[in-house]
Amino acid sequence: MSPRPGALKRLLPPAGAQVARGLQTCLPGARRSWGATGGTDGAPYCYEVFLKHLTLSVQAGMAGVPASVAEIGPGDSIGIGLAALLAGADRYAGLDVVPYSLAAHNRRILDELAGYFSERRPNPPWGWPRYDHLLDARSFPSRILRDESLARSLAPARLDRIRAALEGGASEPIRIEYHCPWASAAAIEPETVDWLYSHSVMEHVDGIEAAYSAMSRWLRPGGFVSHQIDLRSHELFPEWNGHWGVSRLTWRLIRGRRAYLINRLPYSAHARAIRRFFEVRLELLLEEEGGLPAGRLRAPFDRLDDRERRTSGYFVVAVKR
Ligand SMILES: C[S@@+](CC[C@H](N)C(=O)[O-])C[C@H]1O[C@@H](n2cnc3c(N)ncnc32)[C@H](O)[C@@H]1O
Repeated sequence: MSPRPGALKRLLPPAGAQVARGLQTCLPGARRSWGATGGTDGAPYCYEVFLKHLTLSVQAGMAGVPASVAEIGPGDSIGIGLAALLAGADRYAGLDVVPYSLAAHNRRILDELAGYFSERRPNPPWGWPRYDHLLDARSFPSRILRDESLARSLAPARLDRIRAALEGGASEPIRIEYHCPWASAAAIEPETVDWLYSHSVMEHVDGIEAAYSAMSRWLRPGGFVSHQIDLRSHELFPEWNGHWGVSRLTWRLIRGRRAYLINRLPYSAHARAIRRFFEVRLELLLEEEGGLPAGRLRAPFDRLDDRERRTSGYFVVAVKR
């Protein structure tokens, strides 16, 4: 009798179950990506993530909502970019490797977000990092998103142009682009972007140097990047740092041929790569208790220093020189 699906995984220790999943992705015709990522499929999440990146970028020196915005890895919708357009940007370019956003309810999310901005919906920050200090008493960033500018950006005729851009119609000056899969820096013209952000993406990117280099090429001099990077094991293991406790060979088997997984890099690898192209203006580290003890980490993670080993989240804002 052949085992029921999933029975093998339940019998194996955590790394074994992940190896089995990785190996499955090498079979002919196997799925190499997930059906959805969770997150940007809801307007409240897109609103929160947009407000977080905007407020912390302004704290780091960005002058309000820039005209041209790009995003790496929008996921289930381009809702964070739609929030940027509603707040005043004219151009949005999303770059992904799996076309999750094509099936998304972008139109519904746009209408919900337009309602949130119109009512200045209070948004007490969720999770890390906090940005309460940049909000007013009603938990809205009214010093950045002023009434006069929101009156312009949410004018009915402008909303119609954003809707038309979403449907691929004539919409100048509003432009929405979606590049998927993006394969090289040629996806976007050089020096045309003012602000590029990513949220829970750079920990998935293979070849971060090439990606940060492409971002620097797309940005105008003085343009900003903001990235929130989740360095945890993404529930592949029970421990938040379990991905640092398997050997290189085991990791290759776990990785299999999935479209992407996690790159296992510690915050310091991102910090170094970013500094090659940008000047860092704000850097926040989230430290985590517990997890695998230092003695159980495998090479090359057995050489992490105390701070690298404890850091489970990294938020960075930087400017192109
Ligand atoms: C965990 S999801 C995050 C989605 C969204 N940013 C959010 O906050 O919900 C990771 C996203 O990164 C994308 N991704 C992975 N590797 C990428 C790469 N090299 N370039 C662009 N996007 C990538 C995935 O396709 C997916 O959309």
